[in-house]
Amino acid sequence: MEKKELLYEGKAKKLYKTEDNNLLIAEFKDDLTAFNALKKGSEDGKGALNNKISTQLFKILEKNGIKTHLVKTLDETHQLVKFCKIIPIEVIVRNIATGSLTKRLGITDGTTLPFPLVEFCYKNDDLGDPLLNDEHCLILNLVQDEGVLVTLKELARKINSILKDFFAKRDLILVDFKVEFGIDSSGEILLADEISPDSCRFWDAKTKEKLDKDRFREGLGSVKVAYEEVLNRILKTQ
Ligand code: CDP
Repeated sequence: MEKKELLYEGKAKKLYKTEDNNLLIAEFKDDLTAFNALKKGSEDGKGALNNKISTQLFKILEKNGIKTHLVKTLDETHQLVKFCKIIPIEVIVRNIATGSLTKRLGITDGTTLPFPLVEFCYKNDDLGDPLLNDEHCLILNLVQDEGVLVTLKELARKINSILKDFFAKRDLILVDFKVEFGIDSSGEILLADEISPDSCRFWDAKTKEKLDKDRFREGLGSVKVAYEEVLNRILKTQ
């Protein structure tokens, strides 16, 4: 399968068409961005690590009944994925309050939430990805009906419960994460995009050290070393 024309370029990935209309090639970039792309950087090998991490996590989720866009890994930085129309909603799940939640609601950083919080944000860089409630999603026609929103929340909670337990066994706290979903040609909702330390917060269970993109945002040293640590723990057999 070969890359044809570039379909889309995001902050961390490029998507290419292939000779098959139902399949795309995703390329993981080394670029790092923060604060709505106001801070930019890159680290050699970051894309390859995210490709490996996301592939492993998608496979675990598939095994647990979550349908995903992943077909297979092609090489270090490329994946073959099913074409799906991305729903322009970033679905965020939080187990521990940090980041924008603490700023918005004044919750003390590091507070364990009484239950996993699911939030929707509008996937729209020009508007700064604003928070949405269900009615905003319907007014903006981001989904066909309320049933899709219910499904997105159910899927997000299921993904959280699978991954939270998986990481807990590896001494990593899944603090929060963002996922995106798409609709394939048969109308099925698939988990799309990626799940990686670019889109999740991981804290070491013992030291509370940050092992995710916050290292880049906060100037805490190499991102790559931390992402390698996350990958090693994922690959650790129980
Ligand atoms: O990280 P920040 O404080 O800017 O935003 P947040 O709302 O606290 O982010 C919650 C989680 O979603 C974090 O794990 C982010 O990495 C992730 N996220 C993302 O991957 N992409 C976005 N556009 C927004 C949030």
